[in-house]
Amino acid sequence: MVPQWWSTTGERITKQFNVIVLTNSFKKLCHIDDLKDGTALGFDPLAKGQDTLFVVRQGPVLRSYKNDCPHWPGSPMAWRKNAYLTSDGAHIACHGHGARFDIESGLCISGPCDGQSLQSLELKVDESGYLYVRLEHLSGKTDI
Ligand code: FES
Repeated sequence: MVPQWWSTTGERITKQFNVIVLTNSFKKLCHIDDLKDGTALGFDPLAKGQDTLFVVRQGPVLRSYKNDCPHWPGSPMAWRKNAYLTSDGAHIACHGHGARFDIESGLCISGPCDGQSLQSLELKVDESGYLYVRLEHLSGKTDI
């Protein structure tokens, strides 16, 4: 049985597979079991040669944000692969200039972009437990 998962907006995100197939606007990232609780993983769904988004798991809640710091738009945030969280896992961190972000909202709570937010991305999980991201906000297109 697939557990209950929740998107960034709090909606239940199981049983969405038909939408994913029909619109072709979502890209598969991984299986939810690949995301360990309290960690983040980066992904490169557009094959740009660097991670363009990351997903954070907190228990049954998954959130995704663009790997793009609001301090310097276009700047990736991790200093090495998957290093998106502070050492205690309590916040998202940008290692460019030390900004910290609230995991739940993406709001910068300290650092040079205080008060600005990361761009959240829509996630869905199919009945087999595979995680998908909506590409629209990464590419500017609805169908890829
Ligand atoms: S580039 Fe992220 S804090 Fe400066």
